[in-house]
Amino acid sequence: MSVNPPPTPAVNGRTAVVPLLAYPSEHVRTPGFFNQHCSEHGINAVMVPWKVSPAGLPAAIEAIRRIENIPGFVITIPHKQEVCRHCDTLEGLAEVMGVCNAVRKNADGTLSGRMHDGQGFVQGLLERGIPLAGRSVLLAGAGGVATAIAFELAGSQVGRIGIRNRSVDKARELGQQLSRHFPDLVVELNPARVEGYDIAVNGTSLGLHPEDPMPFDPTTLRQDTVVAEVVMQPDITPLLQRASENGQRIHKGVHMVTTQIRLLVEFTTGQAG
Ligand SMILES: NC(=O)c1ccc[n+]([C@@H]2O[C@H](COP(=O)([O-])OP(=O)(O)OC[C@H]3O[C@@H](n4cnc5c(N)ncnc54)[C@H](OP(=O)(O)O)[C@@H]3O)[C@@H](O)[C@H]2O)c1
Repeated sequence: MSVNPPPTPAVNGRTAVVPLLAYPSEHVRTPGFFNQHCSEHGINAVMVPWKVSPAGLPAAIEAIRRIENIPGFVITIPHKQEVCRHCDTLEGLAEVMGVCNAVRKNADGTLSGRMHDGQGFVQGLLERGIPLAGRSVLLAGAGGVATAIAFELAGSQVGRIGIRNRSVDKARELGQQLSRHFPDLVVELNPARVEGYDIAVNGTSLGLHPEDPMPFDPTTLRQDTVVAEVVMQPDITPLLQRASENGQRIHKGVHMVTTQIRLLVEFTTGQAG
């Protein structure tokens, strides 16, 4: 899949509509990729951004329940946790974390939530030839996306994860959750030394705004450390720019979304390409 999506596919009376709930919504790129995937795979579905404030979320979900050609929806900041309260069931990691990024409407009208962010990120690394088993990862962040990534990394047999987060309590909580589910994993909290990691991941929202500080300084990492992003707007964040100038291999945030699009389309529309 290219990273420059073409325009929205044709829409007709049978088109399934998949809203993307976001607030704000101006920065979202998922609809372009989702619609390109549907177009290329003959799936009659279209994603549209819905700019929904937290106060408007219950009404939006009530509308979704009633609109019959909405088979499911996708959620991004700031709704990923709150939407779980509206789900009847949570599947896989969503149940453990209380965070989901996609909801499916079942035949009986119930809503099931699932989290795909971590899977998308890990698949993106593996597809680009970055192995994970036995390796060490420095992870900045302990929010929804960082948590999903941490669990998928642990499930992919990484040997050690160092978590750095502004709110230390959240980092500690994530570390404890990981240790409970993956007793063999070595978990380090706010590690002072960072040169021992094979992969360093920005799992925070830092980089979205030009004035943001960097989550860590890539020049303090080893030269052969892979520097990976979750932020995909801008395409090359200041972190990736600095790492690239420093001669390190970079892995862009956009890979995480292009890899998980197939999963999101299948989960929300029930149709595989
Ligand atoms: N590429 C993709 O497919 C994809 C998909 C979804 C999201 N994303 C990206 O992932 C980012 C994070 O999403 P999320 O759902 O995890 O958000 P979240 O749950 O709100 O977590 C935000 C994280 O960023 C940290 N943070 C925010 N502002 C900070 C600051 N000024 N200084 C230090 N740390 C700061 C937070 O630290 P505290 O815990 O201390 O608040 C927290 O760890 C989004 O902004 C988006 O760009 C990418």
